[in-house]
Amino acid sequence: MAGSKKNSLKTADENQPFFVGQELELEIESLTFNGGRGLARKEGFVFFLPGTAPQEKVLAKVTKVKKNFAEAMAIQVLSPSPNRRTPPCPVAQDCGGCCWQHIDYPAQLKQKYAIVCSAYKKLAPGVFIQQPHASPNEFRYRNRIQVHKADDRIGFLKSKSHQIVPIEDCLISEEELTSQFANIRKDQGLRGRIEIARKTDGSVTIVSGKRPAHLHLFSQVNTAQNQWLIDKVIDTLSGQNSFQNIYDLYCGAGNFTLPIARAFPHLNIVGVELSESSIKIAKQEKSHAQFFASDVAQFLRKNRFSSDAFVILDPPRIGCDPSVIDELSHWGPDHILYISCNPMTQVRDLANLMSKYSIKWVQPIDLFPQTDHVEVMTLLSRSDHVG
Ligand SMILES: C[S@@+](CC[C@H](N)C(=O)[O-])C[C@H]1O[C@@H](n2cnc3c(N)ncnc32)[C@H](O)[C@@H]1O
Repeated sequence: MAGSKKNSLKTADENQPFFVGQELELEIESLTFNGGRGLARKEGFVFFLPGTAPQEKVLAKVTKVKKNFAEAMAIQVLSPSPNRRTPPCPVAQDCGGCCWQHIDYPAQLKQKYAIVCSAYKKLAPGVFIQQPHASPNEFRYRNRIQVHKADDRIGFLKSKSHQIVPIEDCLISEEELTSQFANIRKDQGLRGRIEIARKTDGSVTIVSGKRPAHLHLFSQVNTAQNQWLIDKVIDTLSGQNSFQNIYDLYCGAGNFTLPIARAFPHLNIVGVELSESSIKIAKQEKSHAQFFASDVAQFLRKNRFSSDAFVILDPPRIGCDPSVIDELSHWGPDHILYISCNPMTQVRDLANLMSKYSIKWVQPIDLFPQTDHVEVMTLLSRSDHVG
Protein backbone atom coordinates (compact mmCIF):
# COMPACT_ATOMS: atom_id res chain seq x y z
CA MET A 1 0.00 0.00 0.00
CA ALA A 2 2.98 2.35 0.50
CA GLY A 3 2.89 5.10 -2.08
CA SER A 4 -0.82 4.62 -2.94
CA LYS A 5 -2.71 7.90 -2.66
CA LYS A 6 -6.31 6.89 -3.10
CA ASN A 7 -7.35 7.95 0.41
CA SER A 8 -9.07 11.30 0.66
CA LEU A 9 -7.34 11.98 4.02
CA LYS A 10 -3.91 12.36 2.40
CA THR A 11 -1.48 15.04 3.64
CA ALA A 12 -1.11 18.39 1.95
CA ASP A 13 2.41 17.51 0.74
CA GLU A 14 2.07 15.44 -2.42
CA ASN A 15 5.73 14.37 -2.20
CA GLN A 16 5.21 12.42 1.02
CA PRO A 17 5.36 8.66 0.48
CA PHE A 18 2.77 8.09 3.24
CA PHE A 19 -0.60 9.62 4.02
CA VAL A 20 -3.04 9.81 6.90
CA GLY A 21 -5.45 6.87 6.94
CA GLN A 22 -3.09 4.61 5.00
CA GLU A 23 -2.77 1.03 6.30
CA LEU A 24 0.61 -0.69 6.21
CA GLU A 25 2.63 -3.42 7.91
CA LEU A 26 5.37 -2.28 10.26
CA GLU A 27 7.91 -4.06 12.44
CA ILE A 28 8.76 -2.48 15.79
CA GLU A 29 12.52 -2.06 16.34
CA SER A 30 12.61 -0.54 19.80
CA LEU A 31 10.70 1.66 22.23
CA THR A 32 11.30 5.37 22.62
CA PHE A 33 11.60 7.83 25.49
CA ASN A 34 8.94 10.48 26.06
CA GLY A 35 5.75 8.52 25.61
CA GLY A 36 7.20 5.02 25.28
CA ARG A 37 5.98 4.52 21.73
CA GLY A 38 7.33 1.81 19.46
CA LEU A 39 9.65 2.86 16.65
CA ALA A 40 9.45 1.35 13.17
CA ARG A 41 11.11 2.35 9.90
CA LYS A 42 9.91 2.11 6.32
CA GLU A 43 11.34 3.72 3.21
CA GLY A 44 13.52 6.15 5.19
CA PHE A 45 10.59 7.21 7.35
CA VAL A 46 10.38 6.76 11.12
CA PHE A 47 7.01 5.73 12.54
CA PHE A 48 5.94 6.06 16.18
CA LEU A 49 3.22 3.70 17.42
CA PRO A 50 1.78 3.72 20.95
CA GLY A 51 0.91 0.43 22.65
CA THR A 52 3.35 -1.69 20.64
CA ALA A 53 6.20 -3.94 21.78
CA PRO A 54 9.71 -4.63 20.45
CA GLN A 55 10.12 -7.08 17.56
CA GLU A 56 6.48 -7.38 16.73
CA LYS A 57 4.79 -6.98 13.37
CA VAL A 58 1.63 -4.92 13.27
CA LEU A 59 -0.92 -3.75 10.78
CA ALA A 60 -0.94 0.01 11.36
CA LYS A 61 -3.02 2.96 10.28
CA VAL A 62 -1.16 6.26 9.75
CA THR A 63 -2.57 9.06 11.93
CA LYS A 64 -0.12 11.92 11.27
CA VAL A 65 2.57 12.59 8.67
CA LYS A 66 5.38 15.12 9.19
CA LYS A 67 8.45 15.90 7.08
CA ASN A 68 10.44 12.81 8.04
CA PHE A 69 8.42 10.97 10.61
CA ALA A 70 4.89 9.76 11.04
CA GLU A 71 2.57 8.55 13.76
CA ALA A 72 0.43 5.45 13.46
CA MET A 73 -1.96 3.27 15.49
CA ALA A 74 -1.53 -0.49 15.55
CA ILE A 75 -4.89 -1.88 14.43
CA GLN A 76 -3.83 -5.52 14.54
CA VAL A 77 -0.84 -7.36 15.98
CA LEU A 78 0.21 -9.70 13.16
CA SER A 79 3.04 -11.40 15.02
CA PRO A 80 3.31 -10.51 18.71
CA SER A 81 6.52 -9.62 20.51
CA PRO A 82 7.85 -12.46 22.72
CA ASN A 83 7.66 -9.88 25.52
CA ARG A 84 4.02 -8.90 25.01
CA ARG A 85 1.62 -9.72 27.84
CA THR A 86 -1.96 -8.89 28.74
CA PRO A 87 -1.72 -5.78 30.92
CA PRO A 88 -2.51 -6.85 34.51
CA CYS A 89 -4.58 -3.66 34.98
CA PRO A 90 -7.92 -3.64 33.11
CA VAL A 91 -7.73 0.13 32.39
CA ALA A 92 -4.02 0.27 31.48
CA GLN A 93 -4.82 1.18 27.86
CA ASP A 94 -7.19 4.00 28.82
CA CYS A 95 -5.88 5.79 31.88
CA GLY A 96 -2.59 6.82 30.28
CA GLY A 97 -0.47 6.30 33.42
CA CYS A 98 1.31 3.09 32.37
CA CYS A 99 2.42 3.06 28.74
CA TRP A 100 4.38 -0.23 29.11
CA GLN A 101 2.11 -2.57 31.09
CA HIS A 102 1.68 -4.71 27.98
CA ILE A 103 5.43 -5.55 28.09
CA ASP A 104 7.05 -7.90 30.60
CA TYR A 105 9.33 -6.29 33.19
CA PRO A 106 12.70 -7.68 31.98
CA ALA A 107 11.95 -6.28 28.51
CA GLN A 108 11.01 -2.89 30.00
CA LEU A 109 14.41 -2.77 31.71
CA LYS A 110 16.14 -3.76 28.46
CA GLN A 111 14.43 -0.90 26.65
CA LYS A 112 15.37 1.61 29.38
CA TYR A 113 18.98 0.45 29.09
CA ALA A 114 18.85 0.93 25.30
CA ILE A 115 17.36 4.43 25.73
CA VAL A 116 20.20 5.47 28.07
CA CYS A 117 22.88 3.89 25.81
CA SER A 118 21.49 5.72 22.81
CA ALA A 119 21.43 9.05 24.72
CA TYR A 120 25.10 8.62 25.72
CA LYS A 121 26.33 7.23 22.37
CA LYS A 122 27.39 10.57 20.92
CA LEU A 123 28.48 12.21 24.17
CA ALA A 124 30.77 9.45 25.36
CA PRO A 125 31.18 6.63 22.85
CA GLY A 126 32.40 3.46 24.57
CA VAL A 127 31.53 4.65 28.09
CA PHE A 128 30.43 1.72 30.25
CA ILE A 129 26.77 1.95 31.21
CA GLN A 130 25.63 -0.24 34.08
CA GLN A 131 22.46 -2.31 33.72
CA PRO A 132 19.45 -0.48 35.22
CA HIS A 133 18.89 -1.12 38.90
CA ALA A 134 15.47 -2.81 38.84
CA SER A 135 12.69 -1.80 41.20
CA PRO A 136 12.16 -4.52 43.84
CA ASN A 137 8.43 -4.12 43.17
CA GLU A 138 7.27 -4.05 39.60
CA PHE A 139 3.82 -3.06 40.92
CA ARG A 140 2.60 -1.43 44.17
CA TYR A 141 5.55 0.96 44.37
CA ARG A 142 3.96 4.46 44.36
CA ASN A 143 3.70 6.17 47.74
CA ARG A 144 1.61 9.04 46.31
CA ILE A 145 -1.22 9.18 43.74
CA GLN A 146 -3.62 11.80 42.49
CA VAL A 147 -7.14 10.73 41.53
CA HIS A 148 -10.31 12.59 40.54
CA LYS A 149 -13.77 12.11 42.00
CA ALA A 150 -17.05 13.03 40.33
CA ASP A 151 -20.32 11.77 41.90
CA ASP A 152 -19.20 8.48 43.40
CA ARG A 153 -16.73 7.66 40.63
CA ILE A 154 -13.01 7.70 41.33
CA GLY A 155 -10.51 7.62 38.51
CA PHE A 156 -7.63 9.12 36.62
CA LEU A 157 -8.08 11.79 33.97
CA LYS A 158 -7.63 10.45 30.47
CA SER A 159 -4.55 11.96 28.85
CA LYS A 160 -5.23 15.49 27.42
CA SER A 161 -8.86 15.42 28.56
CA HIS A 162 -11.11 16.05 31.54
CA GLN A 163 -12.76 12.66 31.13
CA ILE A 164 -12.50 10.38 34.17
CA VAL A 165 -11.44 6.77 33.58
CA PRO A 166 -13.12 5.06 36.57
CA ILE A 167 -10.87 2.71 38.55
CA GLU A 168 -11.35 0.21 41.36
CA ASP A 169 -7.62 -0.02 42.06
CA CYS A 170 -4.30 1.22 40.71
CA LEU A 171 -1.74 -1.54 40.48
CA ILE A 172 1.32 0.71 40.64
CA SER A 173 0.10 2.34 43.84
CA GLU A 174 0.77 0.99 47.31
CA GLU A 175 -2.31 -0.94 48.44
CA GLU A 176 -2.65 1.18 51.58
CA LEU A 177 -3.44 4.15 49.31
CA THR A 178 -5.99 2.50 47.02
CA SER A 179 -7.72 0.81 49.96
CA GLN A 180 -8.88 4.35 50.85
CA PHE A 181 -11.09 4.46 47.73
CA ALA A 182 -14.16 3.04 49.52
CA ASN A 183 -14.00 5.76 52.22
CA ILE A 184 -13.34 8.48 49.64
CA ARG A 185 -16.40 7.39 47.63
CA LYS A 186 -18.64 7.66 50.71
CA ASP A 187 -17.22 11.00 51.88
CA GLN A 188 -19.37 13.77 50.35
CA GLY A 189 -16.80 16.39 51.38
CA LEU A 190 -14.20 14.91 49.05
CA ARG A 191 -14.52 15.77 45.37
CA GLY A 192 -12.47 16.96 42.38
CA ARG A 193 -8.75 16.38 42.56
CA ILE A 194 -7.74 14.20 45.49
CA GLU A 195 -4.20 13.40 46.54
CA ILE A 196 -3.57 10.24 48.58
CA ALA A 197 -0.06 10.06 49.98
CA ARG A 198 1.96 8.20 52.55
CA LYS A 199 3.52 10.52 55.09
CA THR A 200 7.06 10.03 56.42
CA ASP A 201 5.62 8.57 59.64
CA GLY A 202 3.92 5.82 57.57
CA SER A 203 0.34 7.09 57.94
CA VAL A 204 -1.81 7.92 54.89
CA THR A 205 -3.09 11.43 54.20
CA ILE A 206 -6.02 12.35 51.89
CA VAL A 207 -6.26 15.89 50.61
CA SER A 208 -8.88 17.21 48.22
CA GLY A 209 -8.92 20.50 46.30
CA LYS A 210 -6.13 22.98 46.90
CA ARG A 211 -3.04 21.21 48.15
CA PRO A 212 -1.40 22.35 51.38
CA ALA A 213 2.16 23.69 51.05
CA HIS A 214 3.90 20.49 52.14
CA LEU A 215 2.22 18.52 49.31
CA HIS A 216 3.49 21.00 46.69
CA LEU A 217 6.97 19.75 47.36
CA PHE A 218 8.97 17.40 45.24
CA SER A 219 9.40 13.97 46.79
CA GLN A 220 10.46 10.67 45.27
CA VAL A 221 7.45 8.39 44.76
CA ASN A 222 9.16 4.98 44.89
CA THR A 223 10.23 4.57 48.51
CA ALA A 224 12.46 1.50 48.05
CA GLN A 225 14.24 2.91 45.00
CA ASN A 226 14.67 6.28 46.69
CA GLN A 227 16.45 4.55 49.57
CA TRP A 228 18.68 2.82 47.01
CA LEU A 229 19.50 6.23 45.47
CA ILE A 230 20.39 7.67 48.88
CA ASP A 231 22.62 4.66 49.68
CA LYS A 232 24.31 4.95 46.28
CA VAL A 233 25.02 8.67 46.83
CA ILE A 234 26.55 7.91 50.24
CA ASP A 235 28.61 5.00 48.86
CA THR A 236 29.90 7.23 46.06
CA LEU A 237 30.91 9.95 48.50
CA SER A 238 32.67 7.35 50.69
CA GLY A 239 34.62 6.13 47.64
CA GLN A 240 36.20 9.56 47.07
CA ASN A 241 38.27 11.12 49.82
CA SER A 242 39.77 14.35 48.59
CA PHE A 243 37.11 16.92 49.38
CA GLN A 244 35.96 18.91 52.38
CA ASN A 245 32.77 20.35 50.94
CA ILE A 246 29.62 18.80 49.57
CA TYR A 247 27.06 20.88 47.67
CA ASP A 248 23.63 19.34 47.09
CA LEU A 249 22.17 21.55 44.34
CA TYR A 250 18.39 21.25 43.73
CA CYS A 251 18.20 19.59 47.15
CA GLY A 252 14.39 19.61 47.59
CA ALA A 253 13.53 18.98 51.25
CA GLY A 254 16.98 17.48 51.92
CA ASN A 255 16.30 13.98 50.58
CA PHE A 256 20.07 13.48 50.02
CA THR A 257 21.45 16.37 52.12
CA LEU A 258 20.18 15.12 55.46
CA PRO A 259 21.33 11.47 55.17
CA ILE A 260 24.71 12.78 53.90
CA ALA A 261 24.99 15.11 56.89
CA ARG A 262 24.27 12.15 59.19
CA ALA A 263 26.89 10.00 57.42
CA PHE A 264 29.64 12.66 57.20
CA PRO A 265 29.62 14.75 60.38
CA HIS A 266 33.16 16.07 59.67
CA LEU A 267 32.42 17.47 56.18
CA ASN A 268 30.79 20.78 55.23
CA ILE A 269 27.47 20.22 53.54
CA VAL A 270 25.32 22.79 51.79
CA GLY A 271 21.86 22.30 50.24
CA VAL A 272 20.43 24.77 47.70
CA GLU A 273 16.80 24.73 46.58
CA LEU A 274 14.37 27.23 45.02
CA SER A 275 11.32 26.21 47.06
CA GLU A 276 11.26 28.00 50.39
CA SER A 277 8.76 25.51 51.84
CA SER A 278 11.10 22.62 50.97
CA ILE A 279 13.98 24.40 52.70
CA LYS A 280 11.75 25.03 55.72
CA ILE A 281 11.07 21.29 55.97
CA ALA A 282 14.75 20.42 55.46
CA LYS A 283 15.67 22.74 58.33
CA GLN A 284 13.31 20.94 60.72
CA GLU A 285 15.91 18.22 61.26
CA LYS A 286 18.76 19.17 63.57
CA SER A 287 21.88 18.85 61.43
CA HIS A 288 25.17 20.57 60.61
CA ALA A 289 24.03 20.97 56.95
CA GLN A 290 23.44 24.55 55.82
CA PHE A 291 20.43 25.21 53.61
CA PHE A 292 19.82 28.09 51.21
CA ALA A 293 16.50 28.91 49.51
CA SER A 294 17.81 30.18 46.20
CA ASP A 295 17.89 29.70 42.48
CA VAL A 296 20.96 27.51 41.85
CA ALA A 297 22.34 29.79 39.09
CA GLN A 298 22.15 32.82 41.40
CA PHE A 299 23.73 30.92 44.27
CA LEU A 300 26.66 29.91 42.06
CA ARG A 301 27.07 33.44 40.67
CA LYS A 302 27.09 35.08 44.09
CA ASN A 303 29.54 32.79 45.89
CA ARG A 304 33.16 31.71 45.51
CA PHE A 305 34.10 28.09 46.01
CA SER A 306 37.24 26.00 46.35
CA SER A 307 37.73 23.04 44.04
CA ASP A 308 38.01 20.42 46.82
CA ALA A 309 34.29 19.91 46.52
CA PHE A 310 31.79 17.23 45.57
CA VAL A 311 28.68 18.55 43.84
CA ILE A 312 25.39 16.70 43.57
CA LEU A 313 23.09 17.98 40.83
CA ASP A 314 19.49 16.76 40.80
CA PRO A 315 17.60 19.26 38.60
CA PRO A 316 14.02 18.95 37.35
CA ARG A 317 13.25 17.18 34.06
CA ILE A 318 14.22 20.20 31.94
CA GLY A 319 17.78 19.94 33.25
CA CYS A 320 20.06 22.80 34.35
CA ASP A 321 19.97 26.34 33.10
CA PRO A 322 23.02 26.81 30.78
CA SER A 323 24.39 29.40 33.24
CA VAL A 324 24.54 26.70 35.95
CA ILE A 325 26.75 24.54 33.74
CA ASP A 326 28.93 27.57 32.85
CA GLU A 327 29.38 28.47 36.51
CA LEU A 328 30.23 24.86 37.40
CA SER A 329 32.73 24.69 34.59
CA HIS A 330 34.47 27.88 35.85
CA TRP A 331 34.42 26.66 39.43
CA GLY A 332 35.73 23.17 38.62
CA PRO A 333 34.73 21.08 41.69
CA ASP A 334 36.67 17.79 41.83
CA HIS A 335 33.56 15.62 41.37
CA ILE A 336 30.02 16.06 40.08
CA LEU A 337 27.29 13.47 40.59
CA TYR A 338 24.49 14.32 38.18
CA ILE A 339 21.14 12.63 38.97
CA SER A 340 18.47 13.08 36.32
CA CYS A 341 15.02 11.84 35.37
CA ASN A 342 15.64 12.82 31.75
CA PRO A 343 18.71 11.30 30.04
CA MET A 344 18.27 13.66 27.06
CA THR A 345 18.62 16.92 29.03
CA GLN A 346 21.28 15.30 31.22
CA VAL A 347 23.44 14.46 28.20
CA ARG A 348 22.88 17.97 26.78
CA ASP A 349 24.17 19.49 30.05
CA LEU A 350 27.09 17.08 30.39
CA ALA A 351 28.28 17.88 26.85
CA ASN A 352 29.34 21.32 28.12
CA LEU A 353 31.45 19.81 30.91
CA MET A 354 33.35 17.26 28.83
CA SER A 355 36.35 19.54 28.16
CA LYS A 356 37.20 19.45 31.89
CA TYR A 357 35.58 16.26 33.19
CA SER A 358 35.56 12.58 32.42
CA ILE A 359 32.69 10.20 33.08
CA LYS A 360 33.50 7.57 35.72
CA TRP A 361 30.26 5.61 35.48
CA VAL A 362 26.65 5.82 34.40
CA GLN A 363 23.97 4.05 36.46
CA PRO A 364 20.35 3.92 35.27
CA ILE A 365 17.75 3.25 37.97
CA ASP A 366 14.14 2.21 37.43
CA LEU A 367 12.01 4.38 39.69
CA PHE A 368 8.88 4.00 37.55
CA PRO A 369 8.14 0.44 36.33
CA GLN A 370 5.36 0.17 33.70
CA THR A 371 6.37 3.56 32.26
CA ASP A 372 9.12 4.79 29.94
CA HIS A 373 10.69 6.96 32.66
CA VAL A 374 14.25 6.25 33.66
CA GLU A 375 16.48 7.90 36.26
CA VAL A 376 20.20 8.15 35.53
CA MET A 377 23.03 8.81 37.96
CA THR A 378 26.37 9.78 36.41
CA LEU A 379 29.66 10.43 38.20
CA LEU A 380 32.13 12.89 36.67
CA SER A 381 35.60 13.67 37.96
CA ARG A 382 37.79 16.56 36.84
CA SER A 383 40.12 15.13 34.20
CA ASP A 384 43.20 16.69 35.89
CA HIS A 385 42.10 15.50 39.34
CA VAL A 386 44.57 13.18 41.05
CA GLY A 387 43.36 10.92 43.84
C1 LIG B 1 14.16 16.41 40.78
S1 LIG B 1 13.82 17.42 42.15
C2 LIG B 1 15.07 16.86 43.25
C3 LIG B 1 14.85 17.14 44.70
C4 LIG B 1 15.71 16.36 45.70
N1 LIG B 1 17.08 16.21 45.29
C5 LIG B 1 15.08 15.00 46.01
O1 LIG B 1 15.70 13.96 45.72
O2 LIG B 1 13.97 14.99 46.59
C6 LIG B 1 14.34 18.97 41.59
C7 LIG B 1 14.24 20.10 42.60
O3 LIG B 1 14.78 21.29 42.01
C8 LIG B 1 14.05 22.40 42.49
N2 LIG B 1 14.32 23.50 41.53
C9 LIG B 1 13.76 23.70 40.33
N3 LIG B 1 14.33 24.77 39.71
C10 LIG B 1 15.28 25.24 40.55
C11 LIG B 1 16.22 26.31 40.47
N4 LIG B 1 16.28 27.10 39.40
N5 LIG B 1 17.07 26.51 41.51
C12 LIG B 1 16.98 25.71 42.61
N6 LIG B 1 16.14 24.66 42.74
C13 LIG B 1 15.29 24.44 41.72
C14 LIG B 1 12.62 21.90 42.55
O4 LIG B 1 11.86 22.69 43.46
C15 LIG B 1 12.83 20.47 43.04
O5 LIG B 1 12.77 20.41 44.45
